[in-house]
Amino acid sequence: KGIGDLGDLRGRRVLVRADLNVPLDGDTITDDGRVKASVPTIRRLTEAGARVIVTAHLGRPKGVPDAKYSLAPVARRLSELLGQQVGLAADTVGEGAQKAVAALSDGDVAMLENLRFDPRETSKDDAERGSMAADLAALADVFVSDGFGVVHRKQASVYDIAQRLPHAAGGLVAAEVEAFSKVLDAPERPYVVVLGGSKVSDKLGVIDNLIDTVDRLLIGGGMAFTFLAAQGYGVGGSLLEADQVDTVKGYLARAAEAGVELVLPVDVVVAEDIAEDAVTDVVQATAIPQDRKGLDIGPASVDLFRGKLADARTVVWNGPMGVFEVAPFAAGTREVAVAVSQVEGTSVVGGGDSAAAVRQLGLDEDAFTHISTGGGASLELLEGKSLPGLTVLDD
Ligand code: 3PG
Repeated sequence: KGIGDLGDLRGRRVLVRADLNVPLDGDTITDDGRVKASVPTIRRLTEAGARVIVTAHLGRPKGVPDAKYSLAPVARRLSELLGQQVGLAADTVGEGAQKAVAALSDGDVAMLENLRFDPRETSKDDAERGSMAADLAALADVFVSDGFGVVHRKQASVYDIAQRLPHAAGGLVAAEVEAFSKVLDAPERPYVVVLGGSKVSDKLGVIDNLIDTVDRLLIGGGMAFTFLAAQGYGVGGSLLEADQVDTVKGYLARAAEAGVELVLPVDVVVAEDIAEDAVTDVVQATAIPQDRKGLDIGPASVDLFRGKLADARTVVWNGPMGVFEVAPFAAGTREVAVAVSQVEGTSVVGGGDSAAAVRQLGLDEDAFTHISTGGGASLELLEGKSLPGLTVLDD
């Protein structure tokens, strides 16, 4: 069900669970992508005359109020983006929250303090989470689930509350689910998946789920070195997960059996260390010197990957090709991202680091079909799991 199925919302208290878990430097938001992504649903609700209560978490506080994790910077940014006052309640479900909600007029927006200031939010105990959900539900008439980045969490504000209030998926959750369903259920071919990031152990579930269905699997980033090691090559000082080499050998065999092209970097940018002024070299991926680390894919790999993407009709990209945050090692991620964005067809960017890379490298976000706001949530969808925050909306 979508917001349109909730009937007339004028004067109704609508509690929105958003994912506003943004990176902060002090109290400055360094990437406001998730705040921006929350705006259309909130605006739709205010325009319908609802009294909107925004709930979210920030970081992982230990179940007690902690000024370091206050949502104050997020409420300020949301105010700016919406062009209207967003008052932040003094607490999450206590007197402060009740006062803030009682003061709302039609079309107003208030935000509750960090949900994780209350230990019941993330409790493993059903009754504890249930009591938190009941407190949240008492503040509202309707629940809108729009925090895609948290739908993999069985938490009070994501899961239990939907069992207590009439509910719907917000526009962001609906768009995310649609984008992932399209690529997972009925991908147009050729279907190419590009995986990167530092650790292969973070991507085992994704590889397992997709390796037999994709046409090509391109592997870059730190995880590529465990693949090179599985093929018998030395990787110098590069990141290597020795305990995953056998698993990766299994993937190489499965890909060959399924007729899936598994493509690894042919050259890498190496340096002694990760530094802005690092002295870099490009070497063959099969000849990484003992005393160097591979920190990005090289230009020949970029050309190879670009070629493998050129005729793709569906691309899923998850994980950077190198240490893109540091200038000498950003080119691989930038070039592959551009190639993904130029695909004629559907291009989905899994959230987390790859979405951050698109923004930090100043790439055109509109050139992609979809950039996910979810990190763990998008990975779990790609792993083929069903997510509690989504299944509860269907029930
Ligand atoms: C995320 O950043 O992936 C989400 O906000 C979930 O945060 P969590 O991993 O702390 O639950």
